Amino acid sequence: MVASFGAARVLVASNRGPVSYDVGEDGSLRARRGGGGLVSGLSAIGPEAGALWVCSALSDGDREAVRRGAGEDGVRMLDIPADVHADAYNGIANSVLWFVHHMLYQTPLEPVFDAEFRRQWASYETYNRAFAEALAEEAAQGAAVLVQDYHLTLVPGMLRELRPDLRIGHFSHTPWAPPEYFAMLPDDIARQVLRGMLGADRLGFLTRRWADAFTACCERFAGGLGDTRIGVHGLGADADFLRARSHEADVDERMAALREEIGEGRRTIVRVDRTELSKNIVRGLLAYRQLLDDRPEWRERVVHVAFAYPSRQDLAVYRDYTAEVQRLAEDINERYGTPGWRPVVLHVKDDFARSLAAYRLADVALVNPIRDGMNLVAKEVPVVSDTGCALVLSREAGAHEELGEDAITVNPYDVVETSRALHEALTMSPADRTDRTKRLAASATALPPARWFLDQLEALREGTPSR
Ligand code: G6P
Repeated sequence: MVASFGAARVLVASNRGPVSYDVGEDGSLRARRGGGGLVSGLSAIGPEAGALWVCSALSDGDREAVRRGAGEDGVRMLDIPADVHADAYNGIANSVLWFVHHMLYQTPLEPVFDAEFRRQWASYETYNRAFAEALAEEAAQGAAVLVQDYHLTLVPGMLRELRPDLRIGHFSHTPWAPPEYFAMLPDDIARQVLRGMLGADRLGFLTRRWADAFTACCERFAGGLGDTRIGVHGLGADADFLRARSHEADVDERMAALREEIGEGRRTIVRVDRTELSKNIVRGLLAYRQLLDDRPEWRERVVHVAFAYPSRQDLAVYRDYTAEVQRLAEDINERYGTPGWRPVVLHVKDDFARSLAAYRLADVALVNPIRDGMNLVAKEVPVVSDTGCALVLSREAGAHEELGEDAITVNPYDVVETSRALHEALTMSPADRTDRTKRLAASATALPPARWFLDQLEALREGTPSR
């Protein structure tokens, strides 16, 4: 057994990896690298640390890269059969677990846990097992393994059985459902998820609120936490990266283009999201429409800049939501627009440089999710903003725990309150706005991504092995 141990000392496991591949017209593979907290964390520990990232092949290009053995150093992509992956990722992770933790169901008609659900659940188990087996194979004796998110809730328990010597951590980037909502899951599935998670030595959450919800679920459905420790790590914005990146030439170009679209002398209300049900983009537009109705003095003087980037388009409910966002934006533009003024500037094509340009220009940032693990946009805008920015922030975003005092808080379901908050934000005095932005930026950057990652690693290694 010992002879079969791998060499990696620190392992990260997540559905989406740090790199993805496209096959070009000439058949060559093109790699694209992503960012985020885990990427910063792994670069901070340095190449000599023996780190390995285990992730899933997601696109045809990724699968081709695996077949050609063209992967990057430090990354192992798992070529899980496409149908198994689709059931696990679309069917279970994004349509059930994501919906439960974000409380997204329209409960009179859904969820329905039928035979099809059970079939997809078997794929979710297969997919989790593929990760557990790859990690067991690659990890050195006593290595630290950091498993990410709701896609991989069963991995800690499976891995614990295969490799009791490892230090296993799991981190949730989402909220956790309160027990009354979690109880919607079939009893055996609820127990399996919790026991899978409790296979870890340590579980991390973005806020105390989500950690407490998890603990409450364990008390109700799994007989408590057992030996598993819980930690809270509120991921912050990467100030150094954002400040440098937002002053590169492409961002300046995007600012000029956006200014053209907005028009001279107008205020801006900015939002940047994945087109995600939980982000509440539709109610954001309704609140803006209410503002134009209640406060006609803002007509011609303000523009709502809304970036809603494609996400999870395999799911019909996401496609429908995207269509509704577009329909409502057009409706507002038709109803209120004038020859010289387009009230909503909506972009749906992902463009990071343009997002940063919008952050720099924003007078008001609108972040109104119905439920969100953290929401990094709320933390990034105050850091990047050129002249200070008022933040309208949902009390249901994890970020509200840290930023609430200097934001204008809204109930995300209340569009009348949200429209009033937009007015208050637009009329905030420049001095107040500057002061608040400074404090928001300080809170938002308190735990930079590299530190966030290293804290988890240290805590995992320091704890006495629980088994
Ligand atoms: C959430 C999850 C992340 C995920 C992201 C994008 O923030 O917590 O783990 O990476 O959504 O979702 P996607 O389905 O595109 O990976």
